[in-house]
Amino acid sequence: MNPVYEKLMRCYRSVREKIDFRPQVALVLGSGLGGFGEEIRVVQTLEYSEIEGFPVSTVPGHAGRFLFGYVGGVPVAAMQGRVHYYEGYSMDMVVLPVRLMKMMGAEILFLTNAAGGVNYDFCPGDLMLIKDQIASFVPSPLIGMNIEELGPRFCDMSEVYEKSLQRILRETSKDLHIPLQEGVYLQFSGPAYETPAEVRMARVLGADAVGMSTACEAVAANHMGMKICGISCITNKACGMSDQPLSHEEVQETADRIGAPFQKLVKESIIRMGKVLNGETADE
Ligand code: HPA
Repeated sequence: MNPVYEKLMRCYRSVREKIDFRPQVALVLGSGLGGFGEEIRVVQTLEYSEIEGFPVSTVPGHAGRFLFGYVGGVPVAAMQGRVHYYEGYSMDMVVLPVRLMKMMGAEILFLTNAAGGVNYDFCPGDLMLIKDQIASFVPSPLIGMNIEELGPRFCDMSEVYEKSLQRILRETSKDLHIPLQEGVYLQFSGPAYETPAEVRMARVLGADAVGMSTACEAVAANHMGMKICGISCITNKACGMSDQPLSHEEVQETADRIGAPFQKLVKESIIRMGKVLNGETADE
């Protein structure tokens, strides 16, 4: 068996020994959604360290656990903490958790992150609906022998972020009066922030926000046929666009400040997505 698939199956069996929960929505909680656990009626938590062979984050202050439970009536698996490529994990390990949540039953993947604003119209504290992405600066998680059990060798990427989910996010933000920018997310490897020249390059290439996660997870989820949506919390103007040097503290401070509306938007959107998944119309 393909060693990457073998590792994934080992994790899956390890999880299934502990829990038989079937999520419909998989949620990756980035900076700004640290408190989202309060919105979930949690039925079980699972520390990453309890899962055999599962990658554990090395970033200080990043929790590492799954929350399984309900948002409204929608069964969700939420990741509190993700691992990043810059931590030294191979790409197949970085995307393993997303693949695992799909194997558990999740049809929708809701990605969130903190990002630097490259678009001149964006301010720290803005939320951005991810419409598309540029993943060309990090290795693809699909490199290597294709795992046929997961998806095809050459997968289409014409609509990574599903239009119908984008519509739900847009409408929910309008109904809740939470402003939502829109744009293209570009993933760099990190861990250093970009130089001003790299930020200019990102802008020329069509990016509106830059970060160090998410796009690779979306590639793996798209390969498996998941419906994907994403929101970036713009925590800072990207390097070179303001007088101040960037710091992790600034990123965290902004993310914490925007936590409450971000949480509200994600919660209500998931409830509406659940209605669509379960065959009700979104406005019922
Ligand atoms: N660059 C990369 N990643 C980030 C940034 C940034 O400016 N802000 C938050 N995450």
